[in-house]
Amino acid sequence: MLELKIFLNQSTKRNRKTPIYKQVYEAIRTAILDGQLKAGTKLPSTRFISKDLKISRNTVMNAFDQLIAEGYLITRSGSGTFVANQLPDDLLEARKFFHRAKSKSESLRITSKRSELVLQSPDAFGSDSVKARAFKTGFSAIDEFPLELWIRNFSKCMRKMPRVNLDYGNTKGYMPLRRAIAAYLGSLRGVRCAAEQVLIVSGSQQGMDLAMRILLDEGDEALIEDPGYLGARGAFLGTGINPVPIPIDSEGIDINEFDKRSKNARAVYVTPSHQFPTGVVMSLSRRLEILEWADRNSAWVIEDDYDSEFRYDGRPLAALQGLDNNNRVIYIGTFSKILFPSIRLGYLIVPQDLIEKFESALALTTAHSSQFEQIALAEFINQGHFSSHIRRMRGIYAKRQKCLIDAINTELNEFLEVKKDNAGMHIVAWLKKGWNDRKVAEFVLENGIYVAPISHYCISEKIRDSLLLGYTGISQTEIERNIVRLKTILQNYPENN
Ligand SMILES: Cc1ncc(COP(=O)(O)O)c(C=O)c1O
Repeated sequence: MLELKIFLNQSTKRNRKTPIYKQVYEAIRTAILDGQLKAGTKLPSTRFISKDLKISRNTVMNAFDQLIAEGYLITRSGSGTFVANQLPDDLLEARKFFHRAKSKSESLRITSKRSELVLQSPDAFGSDSVKARAFKTGFSAIDEFPLELWIRNFSKCMRKMPRVNLDYGNTKGYMPLRRAIAAYLGSLRGVRCAAEQVLIVSGSQQGMDLAMRILLDEGDEALIEDPGYLGARGAFLGTGINPVPIPIDSEGIDINEFDKRSKNARAVYVTPSHQFPTGVVMSLSRRLEILEWADRNSAWVIEDDYDSEFRYDGRPLAALQGLDNNNRVIYIGTFSKILFPSIRLGYLIVPQDLIEKFESALALTTAHSSQFEQIALAEFINQGHFSSHIRRMRGIYAKRQKCLIDAINTELNEFLEVKKDNAGMHIVAWLKKGWNDRKVAEFVLENGIYVAPISHYCISEKIRDSLLLGYTGISQTEIERNIVRLKTILQNYPENN
């Protein structure tokens, strides 16, 4: 009894985030699993514990009730509460594992090699270490998003929605949204598809995962851009695909390297509208060469068209998908950049003969993305709000980019060299000779500003040390203020670092 009291006192050091009954529950459960409380041991009364721990008796009773319901404790009328004699099988299993995990520092549960690879594949540089928005890449202007309009539209849709929409929806997505996307892509991106070919997914990330699992077998090779998007590389590793890095030249992914680096690649992942992160726009001749390569090798082209809406000068080149006559392209788009990332909606355009396979795979993963957002988004597009939002954002982003480039040229020209980019949401700034981008970025991050080193996105290529600066997620005033701060930081950068 005394031991339990000490144990409870130690384990229930008040942690404000967890309800107290839960803390008492955890303390007793841990003591049982850990063997400190043996089967058949009588527990002190709830009155005694509540007095001793200076908590209400109800709180202790709640903890006891849960432990009884889960089979850890039993009550014997008139005699009190005891640790169950017969612990359920799964409890004993948990207990074995608990002991093993505690006796060694690492878990001995065996997981797949893929899970190790996923763990090793890097996140965006310093992704969880900085709160500052300046100068994170790929952040949309949430400050400019017409939230009131979105809420009004959402409520209107929910009010008039038939109750049947509370049921499971169509796995491939809400049909009016699929029609709206097909129409939008047809007129603005040169994508050729019927609404049937549009599959709604939870962002491009799910689209890439799905595409790899449907199109390739474990151990197959897929060509990826180097430097390139880490999310794609991670998705490939996670599905057991072997990503083969291919360098970028002035026309996009270097097709001359394809056969040298992989004899039997089954797919290539590309960002032709605006290569991530270099910003290179893939030339028309390179696009045609890639389609030819895919056809010759019976390989797939995964086209990630993540930020093509933000083109500031000239007309965007049409999507690769629209040039493909052999049904080799899987086109992936997202609403994360145009609207806001937490909406978690994106889409895949797949060849007719693959619809069924993708649908089955979707059914076994998310079943479908939340129907409410899909309904509201379809209406938002059909009412014309979507295209006017894109037009407005394009204007704002063009100004933010100009503001950033002007500020760098005025304040930071001894450290950074930049030039205008006709598209996208970030710029690449080349660093002063001799400076290592990763070390500079780490130093800048320690001082509260985020700049990503391009080398973080390289696998085997070594390219000129440079920093990526996102400009879409912050106002012009913030851009100017933070460039002045960055100047002070760089002036204090230890040269021989
Ligand atoms: C190249 C690329 N593709 C796709 C995405 C968007 O992914 P999601 O739709 O999963 O938010 C990003 C976001 O940063 C990106 O940089």
